[in-house]
Amino acid sequence: MRPLRTAVMVAGCLAALAACDETGRGAAGGDPAAMPAASDGAGLYAEYCAACHGAGGRGDGPLARAMSKPPKDLTLLALRHGDTFPTARVLNMVDGYARSDLDGPGMPEFGELLAGDLVPYDSGDGIATPTPRRMVAIVEYLRTIQQTR
Ligand code: HEC
Repeated sequence: MRPLRTAVMVAGCLAALAACDETGRGAAGGDPAAMPAASDGAGLYAEYCAACHGAGGRGDGPLARAMSKPPKDLTLLALRHGDTFPTARVLNMVDGYARSDLDGPGMPEFGELLAGDLVPYDSGDGIATPTPRRMVAIVEYLRTIQQTR
C-alpha cells in the first residue's frame, strides 16, 4: 500500500507544479509590476558586462584589448541571427557566465545574477520558465540595444 500512496502523492505534487506553471504569472497575462524591465538591466549590464563588452555593448570594454578571444559586439546579436534577437541563446550565455567560476582582479561576482527571486520568462519556446529576475533584466536590456539594418 505504501509505495502506491507515495506514487499518488508524487503525482499530486507534479500536477500542482504544472498548475503553477499554467496559472502562474505568465509573461503574457502576468503582473507587469512583477516583471523586470530593460531599465533594470542597464545598471546590471554596466556592473557585470561592460568591462569586457563595453559601455555601449560594442565589444570594446577596457578589458577587451588584453583578451585573446575578443568579447562580442552585443548590439549585433539580432542582426547575426536572422534579424531575430536570440533570447534563449543569450539567456544561456549569461547563465553560463553567472555559473562559471571565473575570477581574478576586479572580476565581478556573476553568481549574484542568479540570486533573488524567479520570474516566469518565456525565452521563445512558449513556456514561462522560472528564471532569475536579474538575468531576465539583462537579457531584456540587451534586446533594446540591438542595431537594425
Ligand atoms: C571577462 C570578460 C567578459 C565579461 C565580464 C562578459 N563577457 Fe560576454 N563574452 C566575452 C567573450 C570573450 C565572448 C566571446 C566568447 C566566444 O566567442 O566564445 C563573450 C560572448 C558573449 C555573448 C555571445 C555573443 C555572440 O554573438 O555569440 C553574449 C550574449 C555575452 N557575452 C553576454 C554577456 C553578458 C550579458 C555579460 C554580463 C553579465 C557578459 N557577457 C560579461 C567576455 C566577457
